[in-house]
Amino acid sequence: MKIRVFDNSHDAGVYVAALAEQVIEDHASPVLGLATGSTPIPFYEALVRLHQCGLDLAPVKTINLDEYIGLDPSHPQSYAWFMQNHLFSHVNIPKDQIYLPNGVASDLEAECRRYDEVIRKHPVHLQVLGIGINGHIGFNEPDDALLSQTHIVDLRQETVASNARFFHDIEEVPKRAITMGVQAILQADQIVLMAFGREKAQIVAKSVSGGVRTDVPASILNLHKQVTVVLDRDAAAELMDSSGRLRIR
Ligand code: GLP
Repeated sequence: MKIRVFDNSHDAGVYVAALAEQVIEDHASPVLGLATGSTPIPFYEALVRLHQCGLDLAPVKTINLDEYIGLDPSHPQSYAWFMQNHLFSHVNIPKDQIYLPNGVASDLEAECRRYDEVIRKHPVHLQVLGIGINGHIGFNEPDDALLSQTHIVDLRQETVASNARFFHDIEEVPKRAITMGVQAILQADQIVLMAFGREKAQIVAKSVSGGVRTDVPASILNLHKQVTVVLDRDAAAELMDSSGRLRIR
């Protein structure tokens, strides 16, 4: 794993956007795997700026990791809305090249299989990930086993509590989601895991240096050959020695 520590999330976002630009230029039909949450916002801002500076996103396909069950794409807390707001409405990716799980599908199992087919047809070149406070990636929660395919997940209490900051009331937070499985994540050519803030420091250290464990889903990234962990100084705190240097590389 490559670890890069930035002074702030803005600089980190610019770096990840530059990685995305490279992938976009290297492929005729580039596929970006995208994440939600507050962490990737500086990346989307930087990608939008790159687009305004001339980067053409028309050939890009995007595949999002997950969606809440029960939230319509028009709901301001749905991940479809998030993506629209932070990226899609500002760039020129054609609508029919944008893929997200449908959290209001009438047959959710069929929706999971449809999504696996989307992933199979469009192998991801660059997968961007955040990390949940408990180590989840997408909505692959800590458990005895991690599932490989797209599936329906009961969100853990700590995830619901953490994501409640985006809703008026914790009762409004959906308790279930559809998420891409870990196989799809590991199949990406290249993965970037982003994390910012002191509250992520411990789980980042566990994920990066604690061996592969299903109760820390992000640790599975140790099995992938091209992962870049992009942190700010706070999120890297537990990976630094007393002189502020990374203990692992
Ligand atoms: C949600 C998403 C994850 C994301 C996590 C962290 O649970 N499903 O993909 O990584 O939030 O969110 P934040 O970046 O806001 O800390």
